[in-house]
Amino acid sequence: MALDFKDLGSGSTEIRIQKLKELNEKAALGGGLDAIDRQHERNKLTARERIALLVDEDSFQEVGKFITSESSSILGDGIVTGFGTVDGKRVGIYSQDFTVMGGSLGIQHAKKICFIQDSCIKSGIPLIGINDSGGARIQEGVVGLGGYADIFYRNVKASGVIPQLSAIMGPCAGGAVYSPALTDFIFMVRGTSFMFLTGPDVIKEVLNEEVTFEELGGAVTHNQKSGVAHMVAKNEVEAIHQIKRILSYIPSNNMEDPPFLPTNDEPTRREESLANVIPDDPNKPYDMRDVINAVIDRDSFYEIQPLFAPNLLIGFARLNGHAIGIVANQPRDLAGCLDINGSLKGARFIRFCDAFNIPIVTFQDVPGFLPGTNQEWLGIIKHGAKLLYAYCEATVPKLCVTTRKSYGGAYCVMSSRQVGSDWNLAWATGEIAVMGSKGAVKIIRRKDLAAIGKNDKKLAEATAKFEQEYKSELLHPYLAAKVGYIDDVIDPRDTRPKLISGLELLKNKVESRPRRKHGNIPL
Ligand code: HXC
Repeated sequence: MALDFKDLGSGSTEIRIQKLKELNEKAALGGGLDAIDRQHERNKLTARERIALLVDEDSFQEVGKFITSESSSILGDGIVTGFGTVDGKRVGIYSQDFTVMGGSLGIQHAKKICFIQDSCIKSGIPLIGINDSGGARIQEGVVGLGGYADIFYRNVKASGVIPQLSAIMGPCAGGAVYSPALTDFIFMVRGTSFMFLTGPDVIKEVLNEEVTFEELGGAVTHNQKSGVAHMVAKNEVEAIHQIKRILSYIPSNNMEDPPFLPTNDEPTRREESLANVIPDDPNKPYDMRDVINAVIDRDSFYEIQPLFAPNLLIGFARLNGHAIGIVANQPRDLAGCLDINGSLKGARFIRFCDAFNIPIVTFQDVPGFLPGTNQEWLGIIKHGAKLLYAYCEATVPKLCVTTRKSYGGAYCVMSSRQVGSDWNLAWATGEIAVMGSKGAVKIIRRKDLAAIGKNDKKLAEATAKFEQEYKSELLHPYLAAKVGYIDDVIDPRDTRPKLISGLELLKNKVESRPRRKHGNIPL
């Protein structure tokens, strides 16, 4: 499939057009039919098949098709790059071609990626990278490594300017993982994609640990354990569908508003189911997804990272047609406590929404930060601070609904008025306080309880009475409303109309901060 330059400059127009057609056909075959068959046998699509699934029909404009390199004379140098539209939205794409030297990256291959990155930044359009590569092309030595660094540099330059999405559809190993890691969202495919810095062989050699590719860096590992990836798909078609869906919520660049999608769902809709969602027993969990789905435009919730840190939900949705980012405590997991993973997950999502003008709606039911030596020693202080920092830093409209618990430091962190939240509502079932009744009574009634002595029955009765007193005096949303920390206490059924009117009010919100080079988020 090598490019033969002989005779390309001779012949009539008809002959030249025929030669062009042949070259195009050659380029379309990448590493050749046998290699394409092997790709399909691996349950993988080719670079071009993936692009065809992603873009609108006939919209793809390829660039750099005739680029070759010293190490590979195959047209395109193992990568297909260009521009197209996805549901009408213009995007830049690169798609590594594993049929050509395992999609490995040499300098020309890298230059093609850099060109697309630069073009996307200049034109203000999202970048979608489809990764399927054996890494740095061994035959090109250090030159390929330099190519990677060129790409990383542009990933960072583009960060917060254009959305960057990475699909991992095969191997992504060594330092190569850092390009996807610098982008906004990573999509992986179960069984056929993996990411790791050092592979199973090296791990065996250095640490004598046995681990499979899938266990080490497969789609489930990175979606569930490490949190490196955001979405897992059962196959490549589903992964591409996920990419299209995410694009429907986000603007093309940081100067644009997110897309608006008209809805038939009435903005004034009251939702009866919300009157019964909070269990009478405050220690009983419920599914915060039920709340979210009842409030937003029907079927518009697109949950991100559903397998990682399930105690904090994040995702995109729409309210009266406007895209929003949702951050929500999930009482079904760890009772909704904030932990390290949840804080990291929430912080990064909030920063994405803020960078791309997407209002943030928080649903709060949080008893506090997760206690324990494990969390403390792993640095919950600095990781929790990231979530706090992200909320404080975000200048997009911030709205918050407290459904039940809002205790202690977690009150402050989860979109409180004091961290700059613009529209704070509490359900009548809200419990906004320093802590829950059990902990509070142990502290403020310690002397009274000690005076009772060792009589268990009397102690239990007194404790129950004190807890009841504490609940009725302090465990409700009205103290917060009294001091203006909450803008309104509402019937849960009115949440949708109340949030929509808040969002409407904040449509033209502008908030400026002192000039600085950048802040110093506690990394
Ligand atoms: C050149 C490569 C290559 C590479 C694969 N190929 N990786 N060629 N440079 N890095 C070629 C193979 O020689 C083979 O060519 C074809 O691609 C397909 O590879 P296979 O091994 O047959 O495929 P498979 O069995 O699916 O295994 C895929 C693989 C394996 C797991 C990716 O090829 C592999 O381990 N490759 C090396 C990975 C690696 O260590 N890369 C360097 C990482 S470090 P033929 O002609 O036989 O079809 C790195 C540093 C980046 O990338 C630093 C950035 C700062």
